Parts: sequence; structure tokens; C-alpha cells
Amino acid sequence: MGRNHIRPIFLSMNILAIESSCDETAAAICIDGEILNSVVLSQEIHTQFGGVVPEYASREHDSQIHRIVNTALEKAALNLTDLDAIAVTYGAGLAGALHVGLNYAKGLSIGLNIPFVGVNHLEGHLYASFLAYPDLKYPYLCFLVTGGHTQIWEVTAPGDYTLHSNTVDDAAGEAFDKGARILGLTYPGGPEIEKLAKHGNTQLFPFPVPVVKSQPMNFSFSGLKTALLYKSQKLDKDYFEENKAHIAAGYQDAIINTLLNRLEMVIEKTGLDYISITGGVAANKAFRQKADILAEERNLHFYFPPIKYCTDNAAMIAIAGYHYIKAGTFSNLELQANPNLALNDTLMA
Ligand code: KG4
Ligand code: ZN
Repeated sequence: MGRNHIRPIFLSMNILAIESSCDETAAAICIDGEILNSVVLSQEIHTQFGGVVPEYASREHDSQIHRIVNTALEKAALNLTDLDAIAVTYGAGLAGALHVGLNYAKGLSIGLNIPFVGVNHLEGHLYASFLAYPDLKYPYLCFLVTGGHTQIWEVTAPGDYTLHSNTVDDAAGEAFDKGARILGLTYPGGPEIEKLAKHGNTQLFPFPVPVVKSQPMNFSFSGLKTALLYKSQKLDKDYFEENKAHIAAGYQDAIINTLLNRLEMVIEKTGLDYISITGGVAANKAFRQKADILAEERNLHFYFPPIKYCTDNAAMIAIAGYHYIKAGTFSNLELQANPNLALNDTLMA
């Protein structure tokens, strides 16, 4: 898979990390495992389309990546020639968007004559928890809740991942994004629904927690989105507008209850009580609050990364990359972008 094993070479390591898998152009500088800065540019062009338009995402990355990398370097008071290695996302994500970051990193690697390592975006999300909780102990559960994934993994050791729960259709983030479109809100939908739901009562327009009968531990969100669509079409227009905050609150609550319900099942099955919850949806404060209540009731330990490290960023790519670089694992120029990379496609050195 385009990966080489080289001896660990650095005493002090200045790492530049690059992330461009979806609609955030991001760079970060990490020195000896410490994040110095994390620069994120969220592309605004997609707001008007209600979702990410892949072609626009690639073009925006292409026009901004050099500026974002330079901003990260300037903030760290470093020059390109001070860099020892590069970590870059090579999957999962949008093919064209990934190519921009990966090719930029390859160019720097050649030009500066320094090594680079391809990082799995999902493993980046997983490592985001370690940015705030470096002492997080194995084994633990990692609940990955992003725009493309809703998965519960058992993490036994670095790189040792077992999947317990997955979505059979939409991801939780997608449920937020599609729900927001139905509610007439902009993309990304999660923060918009969260804002609106703050003024709503979850009990006035309740939505059922979706169950996958043959796979009770798995998630399904597409029916929930359809239920919201039917509700919005059935209600009188003015009445719908007046009650939008309550509807958003009911919809958000159903997503959160579904997430926590399946998580409890996996906790029950595995007996693990240390749980890291990561990815864009983990930024949701109502989710965090309900999780805190559950943690209290069941004596569980939840680890949420700081909000800025839940959504896409390069600090998480830096810290994941640091683990590879420290072990002397690098990529070679044959490494290709892989839009469909799964968490357990990653092999830890
Ligand atoms: O992890 P992420 O930034 O990108 C992916 O790897 O997919 O996740 C993006 C997703 C979007 O669907 C977005 O609507 C959702 O995370 N999201 C949220 C919140 N912030 C971002 N969902 C609920 N509440 C939020 N505050
Ligand atoms: Zn992500």
C-alpha cells in the first residue's frame, strides 16, 4: 500500500500535517508530539447547496492549501526547511479533495527531501481523543460519529480495531445534514439544528428511535429523515415554521437517543467502560449532555475531544502521523488516495 519501513531517525521532530479529505482545508504543526497550532479553513461555497459538491471542494482545496500551510508555518515561526516530516490524509474521503492534499505533501516531500506518511482520516479522528487525554488506556471503545461514519470500535491496542456497530444506511452526521435541508437550514446541518433545537421542546414533536430488526446493534437513520420529511409536508406551512425549533429538538433528540442506545448495547456486550466519542457529531452539546447523564448513571467514562478537534482538522492527522513517524513508518510516492479506506485498513507499525 505504498508504505515503507525506515529506522526511527529523529530526536526532535517538526511535523507538518495536512488534511483535505472533505470540505476543510487544514494544516497543523506538531513538535515532538505536541500540537503547536491547527489552522482550519471551512469551505463556505457548499452552504448554498445543502451539502458538499465534490468538484468545488477540490478546487477550493487547490486554491487555498498553500496559504493554509504557510499560515501554520508562520504561526509556529518555522520555515519549510525546518520540517522533518509530513503527515497527510490519504483516505477516507472525496477522491479529488484527497488528491490535492496528498499531491501537495508528495511535492513538499520531494522538494525538501523529507519523508511523508499517509494517515487514515478515521484513525485521525480516533487519535483526536489523545490530544486531550494522552493517558487514555487500552482497551476502550471508540465511537466514531462523522458525516460519513457511525461506528463503534473496540480498540485493544494501537492499530488493533474490532467493529461492533455500524450504520446500515446514512451516518448520523448525514441525518443532521439531510434533516437541516428539510428544515430549510444551511450546510453543515449539525450545528444549525443544534442552534435551533436549543429553543425547542423535545417532547412536542417526538420521533421514534429507529431499530434495525435483524441487526439490533446497528444504526439506521434514513427512515428518521423520511419521517421528518413527511411531518414537514403534512403540517400547515405557517404551523411548521412556528414549530420548527420544537421539530428540530425532537429530531435531534431521536438521533442522540439512537446513538446512546446502541452504545449501551455495545458496552453491555464488551464490558468496556472507557469510551472515546469523536467526529463532527461529537461536537453536539446536547449529545454531550445526555452522554454525561448516562455516564453518571452507569458509572462510565466518556472522553470527548475538545470541540475544535471533533470536526475535521489537521491536528488529529499530526498526532496520528506522529505515532507512525516515531516508529519509522513512512509512505512512498506510490501511495494513492483511497476514498473508501476503513479504520481497520490501517496497520500500525
Ligand atoms: O468529522 P466531520 O467534520 O467530517 C467527516 O469526517 O465527515 O463531520 C462532519 C459532520 C457533518 O455531518 C456535520 O453536520 C456534523 O458532523 N456536525 C454536527 C455538529 N457539528 C458538526 N452534528 C451535530 N451537532 C454539531 N454541533
Ligand atoms: Zn472527519
